[in-house]
Amino acid sequence: MEDLKLTIRDIPDFPKKGIIFKDITTLLQDAKSFARMIDTIANRYIGQRIEKVVGVEARGFLIGAALAYRLGAGVVLVRKPGKLPSETFSKTYDLEYGTDTLEMHKDAIKPGEKILIADDLLATGGTMAAVVDMVQQLGGDIAECCFMAELLFLDGRKKLPEGKVYSLLQF
Ligand code: PRP
Repeated sequence: MEDLKLTIRDIPDFPKKGIIFKDITTLLQDAKSFARMIDTIANRYIGQRIEKVVGVEARGFLIGAALAYRLGAGVVLVRKPGKLPSETFSKTYDLEYGTDTLEMHKDAIKPGEKILIADDLLATGGTMAAVVDMVQQLGGDIAECCFMAELLFLDGRKKLPEGKVYSLLQF
């Protein structure tokens, strides 16, 4: 996976001075790297009867949708406020650069459905912890939270259900 890691570039001082931003667009725009990333993550869940993949706005949509297609699952959107048209519920959470709120449709998940949650990056874990809480509020059965990349030094996985966190690449 070292070669795949090298396709992610560091952008210093983005979005704020002192932060080194992991820019995944360079991995996504390379056909072979994108396919390898999706296939490797998807292979972990084939045969687990995942019914829905929850993708987290915005970059999580790219990974969540591709994984759902490979797994024969539906896609559920977790969006920033005001974007979803039907009845929603929300959760406010801490992220790396402040606080934010996420919304989901109330009817997006039925109780007992087997759910995989996908996002591009695990940093502080605040975003995913909020999504886990929302999926649990709807009664979803979380198979795992999966990430393309994880920033180990932030230890975000301690905020998430033990034994239910997977990342493809670690920094
Ligand atoms: C980024 C990333 C994760 C989250 C990780 O999203 O895509 O969703 O931050 O950070 P955390 O583990 O500290 O919560 P961002 O809010 O920048 O949204 P975007 O994908 O729409 O750019």
